Amino acid sequence: MHLIFLGPPGVGKGTQAKRICDRFDIIHLSTGEILRTEIAVQSNIGNQAKLFIDKGKLVPDNVLLDIIDNRLKNNDVQKGYLLDGFPRTIPQAEGLEKIMKELSHSLKATVSLSANEDELVQRLINRSLESGRSDDAQDIIRQRQKVFWEQTAPLLDFYRSKNLLKEVNGVGEISKITERILEVLI
Ligand code: AP5
Ligand code: MG
Repeated sequence: MHLIFLGPPGVGKGTQAKRICDRFDIIHLSTGEILRTEIAVQSNIGNQAKLFIDKGKLVPDNVLLDIIDNRLKNNDVQKGYLLDGFPRTIPQAEGLEKIMKELSHSLKATVSLSANEDELVQRLINRSLESGRSDDAQDIIRQRQKVFWEQTAPLLDFYRSKNLLKEVNGVGEISKITERILEVLI
């Protein structure tokens, strides 16, 4: 099974991705986590990515497409994967289609999680107390929301037009939201 989780910062992509991946025994691929690991080891990719992440901006498409192109050729993803936070722009989505086609992987669905912005900002402010994430500062949290609406939201229509979009309300109890996601995946 091949899935995409799409949604604004703080909506619960990571939280729900872990639960859905456990359920279907597929690999969770969070591009945010991959980039944060690169930053921690101070690799070239990490040093470059940090300049964007710390400002709440998107890392350039070619960097992400190279990461995903390499990652999807690994043996461990052959049982399936959930892409969390990728793609985030139309060029990334088009690049992903090409990569998946070459590998004969077919996308089952793009799950779009939603919540109102006040809820999202509050969740991330709460998380900032312990996450240690450089982008969980209040002004950067707002900037990330803005970037979502400007650069990532066009993907909703992109996947809707391909009949692949499943919209799920991301507000409520975590377990209840998992149930909602499972319902749209059947
Ligand atoms: P990324 O790591 O993907 O962050 P994000 O999209 O900003 O989203 P978050 O991880 O903050 O939120 P989430 O939706 O995963 O929610 P979570 O489950 O943690 O990206 C970070 C940066 O990396 C980007 O800004 C960009 O610079 C770069 N990047 C990454 N991918 C890229 C790409 N493809 N292209 C270019 N650049 C890229 O939940 C949030 C909080 O809410 C947690 O504390 C959680 O416990 C809590 N919570 C979860 N569910 C609920 C609930 N139902 N009720 C109450 N609280 C809840
Ligand atoms: Mg996340």
